[in-house]
Parts: sequence; structure tokens; C-alpha cells
Amino acid sequence: MQRALRAIALPPDVPQGVEVWHLDTRRPDLLHAALKLLSENELARHHRYMDRATALRFALTRATLRMLIADRTGRKAAELSFDYGHHGKPQLADPESSLHFSVSYSGQHTLLALSDKYQIGVDIENSQSPRVLASLAQKLLSSREKSCCPDFCSEHFPRLWTGKESVIKAWGWGSDDPISVLSVLPGKGLRYVIRYDDTPVTQTRAWTLNVISGHAAALALSRQPLGSQPATVVLSRA
Ligand SMILES: CC(C)(COP(=O)(O)OP(=O)(O)OC[C@H]1O[C@@H](n2cnc3c(N)ncnc32)[C@H](O)[C@@H]1OP(=O)(O)O)[C@@H](O)C(=O)NCCC(=O)NCCS
Repeated sequence: MQRALRAIALPPDVPQGVEVWHLDTRRPDLLHAALKLLSENELARHHRYMDRATALRFALTRATLRMLIADRTGRKAAELSFDYGHHGKPQLADPESSLHFSVSYSGQHTLLALSDKYQIGVDIENSQSPRVLASLAQKLLSSREKSCCPDFCSEHFPRLWTGKESVIKAWGWGSDDPISVLSVLPGKGLRYVIRYDDTPVTQTRAWTLNVISGHAAALALSRQPLGSQPATVVLSRA
């Protein structure tokens, strides 16, 4: 699997202990070895995919995720098990482990991100796909985001969209969370500026990543408990 995997260089202000990997999943020669690492549920999911490339991508991604986690926890890759958050975010089913991870797909590309300190979210999109996402964007972007990017097909949109998705993924949110109250706006350099309604969010940071041409990607790190809303965190600390 190693040959298909490449470490992504991160912006200099991303804290230590955070890793992002790019996996090229166009490697049918690696499938046999990958399947040996998957659980029964994962194998069943692999076999349910009608499209071969998607089935291959899922199997190689899960096997790679298992190997990366095993390497960092000293556990065996095939013996790891996962729980799923309220909105489907996978996490390690080991209460003693503080390792967090996130996965994102676009075509044959997968990004895998890991951190032993932060809830983590990663997102990659083909820079052309935002055209397809425009109607969703109309519903989900905040008014601040819409005014920063009124033309959903402009060159700024992929950066905006992946930034927002990365934060949503770090938080483990779902479609019933207040997504249009959250603003994740391109800021200085590679950083985003994050607001929940009018309040600046300081416990979560996000960056644009340069991964592969024709694709936008972003990484978010959060100290918030999974699934919580920034307002709740602020109130519970008052
Ligand atoms: C669930 C969601 C985060 C997945 O994002 P996506 O761009 O469709 O797909 P990606 O390829 O980036 O990510 C898929 C991976 O995300 C992870 N994932 C699933 N649900 C998740 C959640 N609620 N939070 C974080 N990660 C999640 C899984 O690892 C999944 O891969 P796997 O099932 O093979 O392990 C996305 O559908 C979503 O944001 N849903 C609700 C909010 C929404 O409508 N957002 C629109 C954009 S603002």
C-alpha cells in the first residue's frame, strides 16, 4: 500500500502531530492484500458497490486507514474496530485511544488525516464539481459566505466549500445541524476565518491544502467535543 501513499506537506502553522496522506486508489494490484485487513461489515460494503472503481477505492482506503492507525497505536490493523458518531463520523472504538482521523474522496483520490490531539476533518473536491453543488450551496452557505462568493462557479468556490466541509467533518455534524449559521471564509494566506453566527470560533482552525492539481482540499482541527455546537461550548464554559 505504501507505494500508493504520499505525505502531504502541511502549512507551517499546522501544529505538530497532525498528518495528511494522499492515496491514489487506481491500484487493483493492491486489492487482495487490502481485503485481508477489512472487517466483515467492511467486506460486505465493498461487495455492495456496483462500480468497481468505487469498491476498490473503499477497500484500499479502509485498509490504509487501518494500517496508519495500527502503526500509531501499536494495535493490529485487522483487529481495529470502529464506532460511528450520531451523523456517521467513524471513530476508533477504543476508549483509551485519543487518535482521531478523517477521510475524504474525490474520484480516485483519497485524503486521510490523523491527529492525536484534535478532532480532525479533511475534504477534497474536484474543482469542477462545485457546479453540481451550486443548488446545495444556495441552501447551506451562510449569508457571509454567499456574499464572499456570489457566483458559486467562480474560482473561489472550491476553496470556500472544502473549508466548510472540513470544519463540518471535524465537528462530526450532519444535515440537521445549523450549517448555514456557520461561516468558513478564506482568510490570510492558507488560513480560514471561522464564525458561528456573529461569534468568532477560536477552538477550531482550518487551512487550505495544496494536494493535487484540479482539486481543492482543506483541513480543520478542533478542540470541541464531537457533535457539539460552538455556542454550546461557549455557554458550558461560562
Ligand atoms: C457526511 C459528509 C461530511 C460527507 O462528505 P462528502 O463530501 O459527501 O464525502 P467525503 O468523501 O468528503 O467523506 C466521506 C467520509 O466522511 C466520513 N464521514 C461520514 N459522515 C461523517 C460526519 N458526519 N462527519 C465527519 N465525517 C463523516 C466517513 O469517513 C466517510 O467515508 P467512509 O464512510 O468511507 O469512511 C457530508 O455528506 C456532509 O457534510 N453532510 C451533512 C452536511 C451537509 O449537507 N454538508 C454540505 C456541505 S456544507
